[in-house]
Amino acid sequence: MSVSVNEKERIFKLDTPNTSYIIAIMDDPGYAGHVYYGKHISDEDVNYLLRTGESPFVPSGNKRDKISFMDCAPFEYPVHGCGDFREAALKIRTEDGYCTSELYYSGYSISGFTDAPVPGVFGDNGTVLTIELKDKITGLTVELKYIIFEDSDAIVRYSVIHSFTQTLYLERALSASFDMDNEDYELITLNGTWARERYIDRKPIAHGFQGVYSGRGETSHQHHPFMGIVSKDCSQSRGEAYGINLIYSGNFIASVYEGQFDNLRILTGINPEDFEWKLEPGESFATPQAVLVYSSEGLGGMSRSFHDLYREHLIRSPWKDKARPILINNWEATYFDFNEEKLLAIAGEAAKSGIEMLVMDDGWFGNRYDDNRALGDWTVNEEKIKGGLKKLVDGVNALGLKFGIWFEPEMISPDSELYRAHPDWAIAVPGREAALARNQYVLDMSRSDVRDHVFKSLSDILDSANIEYVKWDMNRPLADLASLKLPADRQKELSHRYVLGVYELQDRLIRRYPGLLLENCSGGGARFDPGMLCFSPQIWCSDDTDAIERLKIQEGTALVYPLSTMGAHVSDCPNHTVGRITPFETRGYVALAGTFGYELDITRIPEADRAMIPAQVKMYHMYHELVAAGDYYRLASYSENREYDSWMCIKKDKSEALLTYIQVLGRACVHSRRLKLQGLDPGKIYRIYRFDMESVSELPYGEDKAYHGDSLMNAGINMINLWGDHKGVLLHITELS
Ligand code: DGJ
Repeated sequence: MSVSVNEKERIFKLDTPNTSYIIAIMDDPGYAGHVYYGKHISDEDVNYLLRTGESPFVPSGNKRDKISFMDCAPFEYPVHGCGDFREAALKIRTEDGYCTSELYYSGYSISGFTDAPVPGVFGDNGTVLTIELKDKITGLTVELKYIIFEDSDAIVRYSVIHSFTQTLYLERALSASFDMDNEDYELITLNGTWARERYIDRKPIAHGFQGVYSGRGETSHQHHPFMGIVSKDCSQSRGEAYGINLIYSGNFIASVYEGQFDNLRILTGINPEDFEWKLEPGESFATPQAVLVYSSEGLGGMSRSFHDLYREHLIRSPWKDKARPILINNWEATYFDFNEEKLLAIAGEAAKSGIEMLVMDDGWFGNRYDDNRALGDWTVNEEKIKGGLKKLVDGVNALGLKFGIWFEPEMISPDSELYRAHPDWAIAVPGREAALARNQYVLDMSRSDVRDHVFKSLSDILDSANIEYVKWDMNRPLADLASLKLPADRQKELSHRYVLGVYELQDRLIRRYPGLLLENCSGGGARFDPGMLCFSPQIWCSDDTDAIERLKIQEGTALVYPLSTMGAHVSDCPNHTVGRITPFETRGYVALAGTFGYELDITRIPEADRAMIPAQVKMYHMYHELVAAGDYYRLASYSENREYDSWMCIKKDKSEALLTYIQVLGRACVHSRRLKLQGLDPGKIYRIYRFDMESVSELPYGEDKAYHGDSLMNAGINMINLWGDHKGVLLHITELS
């Protein structure tokens, strides 16, 4: 890993272990140009790639046609207004209403990376390159920041924008942008809706705009702040893949624009729609951080770079590397219909099976008997929880289980004590009836008085009993944007201030309760993003707990995020969302590819299922470390082949691997299926065992023999046909010692 600078030629080169990223200052007139990003190269003086000498695009010799140059040069941080008609990374407005700026190189610095304000990456083996650009007319200064770490192939980029002499309005202030040639690339995005989050979409890049955005105040169920730009031949293990992900939890854009010369402009940052930021003289604005990854080893290489960066340099929770307690959540067990007796019965039965924590979900507070009321009234409902919260928690602890609780801190129901006392705390445009969603409004989290109240409500509850886990939910998007505390010329700051307010509150919470296990959630997975991972090591992936639906959701999520971050539970059948019936065993295998827990009424499920839980608990303890810390390799995708799914988690030293195989559809009169393994050491010798749920032990898989890693990867193994649909197999592959 290194940052090298050729001062004479004004070229900056970032080298990660396997990639290079090159920026050069154009001789005349001093714009920052994007030269190269891709597989590691040895030379730095490749600024000929900028093509600034090609007629007629020569600014010095062709001033009469500056626009021809501006509209095609490969910029590193393009600005609006002076002839580049492609989408800009930065657009300002002066008090006079002028929107043009022009950024010229004015210096650079290199320093050791200490820490950046959350949300963002951290670590002590990083280096930061700062390139400073200035607009001569407004005095605006932009610092382009690039962070690299010794142990990572990712490049983290963001910008800090300063206004020194006059008030400026930032109409768009994106995190990262770079221009490159289109080599027949394809675009991958993650899209969906409630209960169908992060399905993978792939399509050719064509001229014009393509991309995704959120305007919902959260990253959203519908789109995701990730973009893959991949070569046509890119598969899991081959081809080129660029991955761009934004460490942010609110409105974002991720877009690619193919212009007139078949060149691409790649951009990501805060969505400029509903955004503006006023910079008074002397003030600065830091954009969210964007993570860039390049892999010449296909999508798998890209995913592993993201996973490693997030495990080592993003997730701060002390729970990051620890086994998470196996929890049982009462949401799908009881919904709102529970009391302390019911919860203790679930906890009692759970304890017998080896489950380690009870989580009391929505419905324990105020007069919350359904989802129409009481959000904001965070005092325990003693009609449901007789004797109070402490008595219940003590009772659960006495059974040997930890206790966790659900909150939806950012919300307020119109039918609540809180709303009756503070109607002005809800986000709404004065004089207009604000739109309801799930019969609730959103609290104005940009206000410190509101946040202080919410923090006190939460900490009063957390101080009142031995609560070791919090599920922080958020069940509606933002609309009717207005804050009573902001002046007219700052109203468009609300969405971003809201996100910063949520971050501040979560940060305060985990500082006050350092051992707390926080799980974020947003009506399922509407705020599954790297911003939230800075505060919680795990996020609820989706409200769809059906094992087969989860294959697609978890595959899309794992394209970017480590398996240890994905909240995944075994739930009851027929599944509450899709009505599908899958074997209990298979539900366990799919949940094992996440945090692993239960979401069912353990006192009422079939005896045979209940009897399997102790074996599944043991399975989790046997393999969770491999799943959480291992390298992830996807062998087959049910979304693509419609028949089966398979992935591997491989210990970093390649001495052990866990292979999960899910046969979604049974087949008639066919051979077994050949499966080629990935990621093993070709020279190592392995044995293969199958986890046997009945005996809760490992039995040899197929012939009891030794295999070389290269045989397993190049020739493969036979996956026997299983009898029926929705069946699964777990294979433990261990090095012969
Ligand atoms: C949405 C979450 O995703 C569910 O798990 C559950 O907590 C409900 N909210 C409760 O209202």
